[in-house]
Amino acid sequence: KIPHISLCVSCLDFEKAAKAVMPRKSYIYASTSANTGASLKGNIEDWERINFRPRVMRNVGDVNTQRSIFGHNSPYPFYISPMGTLGAIHPGAEPEMVKGAVRKGIHMVVSTASTKTTEQIMRSMVEEQKRMNYASPTRLFFQFYMPVNRERAVELMHMVKKAGYKGLWITVDTPVLGKRESDRVLQAEEALSVGLEKQSTSEWEVGGENAFAPAMGGRVVSGQLSPHTTWGDLKWIRREWDGPIVLKGIQCTEDAKLALEHGCQGILLSNHGGRQLHTAPSSLMTLLEIRTYCPEVFGKLEIFVDGGLRDGSDVLKALCLGATAVGVGRPYLYALAAYGSQGVERCTHVLYEELTTAMRLLGITSLNQARPEMVNASRLLNE
Ligand code: FNR
Repeated sequence: KIPHISLCVSCLDFEKAAKAVMPRKSYIYASTSANTGASLKGNIEDWERINFRPRVMRNVGDVNTQRSIFGHNSPYPFYISPMGTLGAIHPGAEPEMVKGAVRKGIHMVVSTASTKTTEQIMRSMVEEQKRMNYASPTRLFFQFYMPVNRERAVELMHMVKKAGYKGLWITVDTPVLGKRESDRVLQAEEALSVGLEKQSTSEWEVGGENAFAPAMGGRVVSGQLSPHTTWGDLKWIRREWDGPIVLKGIQCTEDAKLALEHGCQGILLSNHGGRQLHTAPSSLMTLLEIRTYCPEVFGKLEIFVDGGLRDGSDVLKALCLGATAVGVGRPYLYALAAYGSQGVERCTHVLYEELTTAMRLLGITSLNQARPEMVNASRLLNE
């Protein structure tokens, strides 16, 4: 039923393979997006609407794709994005993803809404390194959903620090969950099947702390999410967490500037994989906006981008435009669903090969040579 892993030669192949084997409920959880799906579609399509400006005859025999995130070197300028509830995707849950990551040396950001505990996930990294007898460069960072209860937030941050996570990615685009339509249909179906149709309508109210809880990951998170978070909270967070802080879900120039003013070390330009605000800007549009109106943040902050990157050449475009590194979400989730940790390795290999090919064809041998003038975004900007 499932194609041999060697037949997966692109990110899209993992989705096809996964769709064939995943329970419908899990596939809906992974693939769902906000409202009509426009934000998700925009993320993916925009990367293909800008072009390279390749240079030729530049001796591109040897290429180097290394990048570091907050001083932690990686063979790749991309990392695995945080995704909740991986237990719904593969029985091995987050540790299975971590195993694949460790074997390839790719960094990963672990979600607050994980199936396994922060300690279990960290332990799985150490154990895999031992098992492989390999000092993998993989490092784990932690994605932080601000809980309603401040004591709980402090406790969680201390736990994360003690476990050895190297940075806090605070998700700021989720004061409430977006309207994820296929999740809603699924929940309504479940309610109908047990004769709860009357009750289900009131749960569909959107907004505040009573936000609709979608079918899977959201159930873990909603009710714990705080819609009351403000920029002022960064003060006490900073007192409790002395490592790097990245704000995940920055979507305009004004907030990029505020992140810098509030002493953050990084920003992640993201619309949450199109799962939050309907018609939010694509990750690429945000990157282009910030390049134009807030160039001072490049060089002062580490700039990350995620959303819709499906090919190593998309990764290269983001780096040309000034990204430090990029996050890849669903392709890894589908690879995990279909092939477990081997899928994670394979997905990394596919992206790496696409990246090195694109670098050679663009005429560069190191990521330090990636420059904004190597990309032409006029088609996207003039539409
Ligand atoms: C996510 N994302 C996410 N983000 C976050 O901050 N915390 C989380 O728990 C989750 N959970 C989650 C689950 C699933 C199934 C998906 C698909 C996404 C968003 C994620 O970190 C990232 O921003 C996007 O997935 C990137 O877009 P692509 O690569 O999936 O297009």
